[in-house]
Amino acid sequence: MLMNKVETALVASPPRRWLQRWYETPTLIRLGGLPAPGSRALELGCGSGYGTQLILERFGADHVDAVDLDPAMIRRAQRRLDGHADRVCLAQGSATDLPLSLDARDGSYDAVFDFGIIHHIPNWRDALDETVRVLKPGGRFYFDEVTAIALASRTYRLLFDHPEYDRFTAEEFVTALQERGLAVDDRVLTRRSGRYVLGVARRTAGREAGPTAAE
Ligand SMILES: C[S@@+](CC[C@H](N)C(=O)[O-])C[C@H]1O[C@@H](n2cnc3c(N)ncnc32)[C@H](O)[C@@H]1O
Repeated sequence: MLMNKVETALVASPPRRWLQRWYETPTLIRLGGLPAPGSRALELGCGSGYGTQLILERFGADHVDAVDLDPAMIRRAQRRLDGHADRVCLAQGSATDLPLSLDARDGSYDAVFDFGIIHHIPNWRDALDETVRVLKPGGRFYFDEVTAIALASRTYRLLFDHPEYDRFTAEEFVTALQERGLAVDDRVLTRRSGRYVLGVARRTAGREAGPTAAE
């Protein structure tokens, strides 16, 4: 689901970039470490491409593929990442069914990144299925999500547009990961009374125990 004008402006703003660089990135690295050197990464819903830049510069990926539903966002990301053209491949399409131009084969990525995009997808479980499909065994899924609690708040309802049904809580999101063989263990935390959930899951072969989200 595309963002409305308010959220589009916010996502491309300096405060959003500040949060992503100085809070989300260090928190995810603290929780889950860095992908192996020389890794191949995928970013779901790259927006204006700032997250892709961080995946190259701070997470140390060698190559990043990135997808966004909104062609205008892909154009913005292309402008931002012009200097990294040899290490980045951008494509318009859905995280639920990755575009062929990305060559997102089964088990082909060391890391997949979700900087606040899966809560925009009505059939969000399909994006998790696609994430598991493309991750290598042992590969990491870095996520930073907005939960049903935040989406039901007055601020979110007044300012932004999101899917109305089948939203997830932090626990439901972590459980959906575990059910797909994405082990979270203690690499997860919630913020602001469950409004946000951040963590790093590792792709395993089998199913894992229940969620362990801690405030
Ligand atoms: C809240 S923004 C986050 C953008 C960026 N990751 C960031 O953190 O600044 C959500 C992004 O997800 C994109 N999006 C929504 N549904 C999508 C889908 N099914 N597949 C890929 N991208 C999607 C939107 O176009 C938007 O750019």
